[in-house]
Amino acid sequence: SIASKQYRTAFHFQPPQNWINDPNGPMLYNGIYHLFYQYNPFSAKWGNITWGHSISGDLINWTPLDIALRPSDPFDLHGCWSGSTTILPGNKPIILYTGINEAGYNVQNIALPKNISDPFLLEWVKPPYNPVMIAADGFNATQFRDPSTCWQGKDGFWRTTVGAEDFEMKAKALLYKSEDFMRWTRAERPLFSTNSSSMIECVDFFPVSVKGKRGLGSSSTDSVEAKYVLKMGVFDNTHDYYLIGRYMEELDEFIPENAFEDDHRLWARYDYGSFYASKTFFDAEKKRRILWAWSNESDTISDDIVKGWAGLQIVPRTVWLDDNGKQLVQWPIRELESLRLKKVELKHIELSEGGVVEIKGVKASQADIEMEFEIPEFRKAELMNHEWKLDDAQMACHQMDASIRGSIGPFGLLVLASHNLEEHTAIFFRVFRSRTGDYIVLMCSDQRKSSLWPELYKPAFGGFVPVDMKEGRISLRTLIDHSVIESFGGGGRTCITARVYPKLLLAGGIHTYVFNNGSETVKIRKLQAWEMAKARIN
Ligand code: FRU
Repeated sequence: SIASKQYRTAFHFQPPQNWINDPNGPMLYNGIYHLFYQYNPFSAKWGNITWGHSISGDLINWTPLDIALRPSDPFDLHGCWSGSTTILPGNKPIILYTGINEAGYNVQNIALPKNISDPFLLEWVKPPYNPVMIAADGFNATQFRDPSTCWQGKDGFWRTTVGAEDFEMKAKALLYKSEDFMRWTRAERPLFSTNSSSMIECVDFFPVSVKGKRGLGSSSTDSVEAKYVLKMGVFDNTHDYYLIGRYMEELDEFIPENAFEDDHRLWARYDYGSFYASKTFFDAEKKRRILWAWSNESDTISDDIVKGWAGLQIVPRTVWLDDNGKQLVQWPIRELESLRLKKVELKHIELSEGGVVEIKGVKASQADIEMEFEIPEFRKAELMNHEWKLDDAQMACHQMDASIRGSIGPFGLLVLASHNLEEHTAIFFRVFRSRTGDYIVLMCSDQRKSSLWPELYKPAFGGFVPVDMKEGRISLRTLIDHSVIESFGGGGRTCITARVYPKLLLAGGIHTYVFNNGSETVKIRKLQAWEMAKARIN
């Protein structure tokens, strides 16, 4: 049945049972990585929200600890919702989180380690002066939450941003300031406002270096040139969108460079699949910024109750600014490679129209595949007559599944596939040419044939891949882990996470194929596939 253990994962973070959603307060503290997460200790569906807590030395293997925050006081009686950690000068971590108070309103609270010399930070205390922020006049008191990691300005004031909705149902990333972390005042001007959406959740705001992959701390005083990323979770469609821009600290003003129109649907996404409520943190030891996110189930709530669990976290990704300065690049943290076992390789294989090769010799339900395609005749790409907007990719993937032939593509992978392809998830590219001579690469992750079980959510996801086609090459990396597939197109410029529950997986006999269904030949320049070991997770 769908309750099979085989849908649990081998290297994705999940607790032994029950419901999880957002990652909360990730941090590196005294050499130990902490991850807190929205957790229902009693059931596999959302409710009774607490902060679950696990620790790790490598971000791959995790040890569970006791619940760090649970409802206890009037200011969080109905739930300890999402929030962040900040490490204050003197190496003192502090939690800022949303409490659902006794009246059912969203308020912001603080929690401090009970014993700062406890290496695991097991116990947290909530000072009696909570809440430290309540919704201001003119704002909806039930839509005011998820304070970000704080940053400190040159003026010494701490700052955080909190998602809110005004009475016109327009979203604001509010800015709050404090000198002592106890008394917070709202800056009159929000850090960002948009007319294109109502509530925004889990706002994240952080600097990225203009050159190179090196990460920066939230209060970075580094002299490197930086831009800023503002990420917002749009509550209406549960997608995480981000803007890149400049932050003028003296004015507390964020000026996006890629906001196009005031329409979030046209903004970039970290991931075009099952991915929400993401949050980054700065790893001060390895000097990188790391992204976590929640990936929800695609089965029904009653399936989840039978399974006894729901939700997982993506494999943490390093995030940096692309050389073009216009978008982010993401890549699974290096530590994941420590789980790589047996490897198989393919090289210089031509796939003409209809060609299929099987990747044999690695366990198809637990694998990491990295490959590069070469498209000798990429100039023969079909001409696109109309202009696609960023959010048309999903529609395009919906209209053209992997069986619909093009000139360049579809080509890519069929994963978690049964022998006769009755079940499979297709991850593939199509290349088009615009009137102005640019190349447009469409990346799809199509789950519509992923399972024979009824009542699953099986969409086709899609995004455009901003790669330079000059050399006629495009790369794909796919992580396959039982019921989750994470794909990285164009070196991590476009990412898609999918949740699938192949029925035939339970009987064994699952396969992985590379295919080309375009009329032009594509070559597998190089393909490496590793079977993955099971991590020790909770
Ligand atoms: C996002 C979210 C947050 C909230 C939390 C509650 O998924 O709705 O806005 O704090 O989940 O669990």
